Amino acid sequence: MSQVVTTVAELRAALAALKPARIGMVPTMGALHDGHVSLVNEARSRATHVVVSIFVNPTQFAPNEDFDAYPRTLDADLKTLDDRAAIVFTPTAREMYPEGFATGITVGGPSTGLETDFRPHFFAGVATVVAKLLIAAMPDIAMFGEKDYQQLLVIKQLVRDLALPVDIIGVPTLREADGLALSSRNAYLSTEERGIAARLNVILKEAIAAARTSGDLRAAEATAIEALWKAGFAHVDYVAIRDAETLDHITALERPARILAAAKVGKTRLIDNMAV
Ligand code: PAF
Repeated sequence: MSQVVTTVAELRAALAALKPARIGMVPTMGALHDGHVSLVNEARSRATHVVVSIFVNPTQFAPNEDFDAYPRTLDADLKTLDDRAAIVFTPTAREMYPEGFATGITVGGPSTGLETDFRPHFFAGVATVVAKLLIAAMPDIAMFGEKDYQQLLVIKQLVRDLALPVDIIGVPTLREADGLALSSRNAYLSTEERGIAARLNVILKEAIAAARTSGDLRAAEATAIEALWKAGFAHVDYVAIRDAETLDHITALERPARILAAAKVGKTRLIDNMAV
C-alpha cells in the first residue's frame, strides 16, 4: 500500500525516509487509467521508489472549462496505485496555493501557439504547479505522457531554464484498440461521440501519409481539418505539423516533425499527436 500524504512537509518527511534511493515522480490529476499506469511502470523501471501526485490543479482551467466536472476518483486511484507507488501526494488547493500566493511561472518557446491559442491560461498554470510539485519532491526523474506533447516540451523548457535537478522523461501515448489515445476526459464521451472520437487518430495517420507523399504540409493539415468536420467533430481547433523539438512552423519534412491536433466531440475537447 502507498503512503498517502497531503502536505509538502509530510511529503518531504516521507521522501527523506526513503533517501538516498533514486526517486521517480509521476504528477497527475487523478482519474487514473492505463496511460498513467504506464507512466508509473516506466518510473518504477528507472527508479527505486515512485511518488505519484494527484491534484486537479485549478489554475490550469479557465472559468468556462471543466474544473468542477473533472473526474475525481481518489479511492479507485489509490487501489490502482496499490503497491506501485511508495508515496501518493494528494494536496488540497490551499496547500498548493496558500492564502496570499502570488507567484506564477510563464514559459515561452514551445508554449507559443497551438494549445495557447485556445487555452491562453493553460501553460502558466501547468508550469507553476509542476515547478511546485518538483521542488516539493525533488525527484531524480519525472514522467510525463507524450499525449500532452506541447505540455511535455513546455515542462522540459521549464526544467532547463530553472536548472531544476530532475530528468524529464516523455512516455509514449497508450491507445485503445481503435487507436483512440487514453485520456481521463474520454469518460465524458457518449457511445456515439466515442465512435467519432476514434476517427481522430485515423485522420492524423492519413495526414502523415499525405504529408510524406506530397511534401505539402499545409495541404495535409487542411485535408485533415476538413475530414474531422466531416467525421462529426463539433469544432476543430487545429491540426498542425511542426518541428518535433521546438514546435516551430516548418514547411518541409527535413527534421523530425510532429503532427498535433485538438478538436471537440460534443462538448469534450480531445487532443492527440504523432511523429510524422
Ligand atoms: O497532464 C496533467 O495531468 C497535468 O497537466 C499535470 C502535469 C499533472 C499538471 O497539473
